[in-house]
Amino acid sequence: MTRVFKLALILLIVPIIFGACKAEKAASVHDNQYANEIQNLLRQMTIEEKIAQMSQVDPGFYQSADALKEAIRNDEIGSILNVTGAENVNELQRIAIEESRLGIPLIIGRDVIHGFRTIFPIPLGMAASWNEELVRESAAIAAKEAASVGINWTFAPMIDVTRDPRWGRIAESAGEDPLLNSMVARAMIHGFQGDDLSNPLTIAACAKHFVGYGAAEGGRDYNNTPIPDYYLHNLFLPPFREAVNAGAATVMTAFNEINGIPATGHKHNIRQILRKEYGFNGFIVSDWASIEEMIVHGYSADGKQAAQQALEAGVDMEMASRTYTDNLKQLLDEGKVKMEWIDEAVANILYVKFQLGLFENPYVDVSLADSLLVHPQHLEVAKKLAEESVVLLKNEQNTLPLKKGTKVALIGPLAHQPYEQLGTWIFDGDENDSQTVLDAFIEFNGSNNTHFAEGLKYSRDQSTTGFSDVSRAIAQSDVVVAIVGEESILSGEAKTLAELKLPGKQEELLVLAASKGKPVIMVVMAGRPTGLLQTQHLADAILYAWHPGTMAGPALANLIFGNSVPSGKLPVTFPKGEGQIPIYYAHNMSGRPATADNWVHIDDIPVQAVQHSLGNTNHSLDYGFTPLYPFGYGLSYSSFEYSNIEISDNQIQVSETLTVTATIKNTGEYTANEIVQLYIRDLSASYVRPVRELKNYQKIELQPGESKQVNFTLDKSDLGFYKPDGTYIVEPGKFNVWIAEHAETGLMAEFEISE
Ligand code: BGC
Repeated sequence: MTRVFKLALILLIVPIIFGACKAEKAASVHDNQYANEIQNLLRQMTIEEKIAQMSQVDPGFYQSADALKEAIRNDEIGSILNVTGAENVNELQRIAIEESRLGIPLIIGRDVIHGFRTIFPIPLGMAASWNEELVRESAAIAAKEAASVGINWTFAPMIDVTRDPRWGRIAESAGEDPLLNSMVARAMIHGFQGDDLSNPLTIAACAKHFVGYGAAEGGRDYNNTPIPDYYLHNLFLPPFREAVNAGAATVMTAFNEINGIPATGHKHNIRQILRKEYGFNGFIVSDWASIEEMIVHGYSADGKQAAQQALEAGVDMEMASRTYTDNLKQLLDEGKVKMEWIDEAVANILYVKFQLGLFENPYVDVSLADSLLVHPQHLEVAKKLAEESVVLLKNEQNTLPLKKGTKVALIGPLAHQPYEQLGTWIFDGDENDSQTVLDAFIEFNGSNNTHFAEGLKYSRDQSTTGFSDVSRAIAQSDVVVAIVGEESILSGEAKTLAELKLPGKQEELLVLAASKGKPVIMVVMAGRPTGLLQTQHLADAILYAWHPGTMAGPALANLIFGNSVPSGKLPVTFPKGEGQIPIYYAHNMSGRPATADNWVHIDDIPVQAVQHSLGNTNHSLDYGFTPLYPFGYGLSYSSFEYSNIEISDNQIQVSETLTVTATIKNTGEYTANEIVQLYIRDLSASYVRPVRELKNYQKIELQPGESKQVNFTLDKSDLGFYKPDGTYIVEPGKFNVWIAEHAETGLMAEFEISE
């Protein structure tokens, strides 16, 4: 019997047999193009079948593959995560469709975070490219590769704004700024989902983690996130609003408790803000066991109450824990949850399954993977994105680029680590695909010119026995390229660090390299801003490469030997040290701001100076008030001159648009890209506004000597802010606007919004 015929038959006959399961159309079950099909299914489903749709399991929970299959056959599961392999997935799907009573297909989830088999830079690196189109393309490739092995849903993008580099999951985010996180949200959702989710090569996206997870206190993962509503609306929520606008099919709730209520049980945030105000109409999944963890938080007395609270809050599907499976029926019988909530959750899930075309076309073509995985075109995009993600932090005396044929001592624990360069969350990446810096240097620059001695076997290595080889390699070379940083396992989920300095004996390795009197180029591969205060003076040039992915080697070789020019800019402020955290560009102004003229260094305070606070300002006595590198910072082999800022008017009405222009000239010798940034400040408002807010940017290419005028427009969607209750207002008054290279510089103009 064909699937479609079977489904039609079920739709006709089953309601008669199972008339008792009749479900009225719940008012909250939204209208959509599949509303009839969804209603028909809901009418036929038993309560157990409904609850099954709301349950996502990992195959590891079952004692055997057969036990998993039996559970699918018995209609106990609506979704599985962490199964791959086209044939395997097809078989599970076949059982769901042909052997379960209603034949509802499974939705297969997986963490496809920055690529599937072809690994792109970590998301923080992608954000450093500020290249929306390239990020979109990388997600479209990840979707194709993942779909080819049967995955139809990724748990990405993660769009948790974070201002704490100690938090390991900063690697997965787009950093500290809501606009950049919104860009990555939009780009990835468009990439994963394309414009037709039923296309077999697109997959459903999942905007996560809703909400506030990136504010974990102390950067310690899973920690509390006290977030005043004013900051929630202006900082943490905007990327989710953007994700909804971009059509995200699903949203994942977060592990954290926010202002005393676990995010997974937060009815106001989920039902009021996400559903009602933003109009989200896909489905909401919990994070892994985050419903059950509400018991550990001390919010739910037991699994039964946790299930009740999560469903009431609006969580449609439970990942990993079993509180829905174990308790929803009883809760319904006792009148503690409403059938309407259950129907609504199931309808949301079925809606996405229909959108994915799973009822029509549930199986994956098993021949696809061979032709798609690590396709040369995918590797090209991975190389390009890796190149654009790298940020040049320092380049004294134009140390970079190197001439081809330069004799290079290639040292450091990440120079030839095919696995470590891939970064966090690479379940399906294969280190055998990786091209390392050593591979690429040999290819680009010849083995005779490449003197390789890693010095340390891995980033945390405490043994310096390899240092003598390093000295020998340097003696044979003209310049040192040191690939340092952190192994991939040191960033990502639950990988908080209290100290950011390079682990192991890497500082000693750099000291050794610098002692030889040859130029030192330091390349950092890491999942976060590492502490460079102690080491930056040891290098003549620094390239910050994040974890660049499969094509790390060719991308870095291209940059180092000048085949391409660095253009990345920092998506997060680099602190001088942990004691400066949090430090971010978009802070509110204190009443006593520090400036270059008024801050006092600890050594300048006389012994037993008179104790008073007059003249004191908002800074640290040791680190001052500026970070090591500001948000938006990044050098080029070329140089740019910004001039002639002009605004279309210096007074506008709220409803009017303002145009801001400036001229950018390439004053250097290389054709290069420059990321031109637009910031504003609302100078006085009913709530203190940040000293700067990024409102737009353009990445432009300029030939040597070429000038271009960049034009930006600002309208009321840029010039207002959210009040703590979530209403958006634009207030009359004076504003500053900058067109800038980064958050601490720029050409400024002033305008006023009149009454
Ligand atoms: C993470 C999620 C992830 C999920 C499934 C959790 O631990 O917080 O981001 O999607 O696991 O692997």
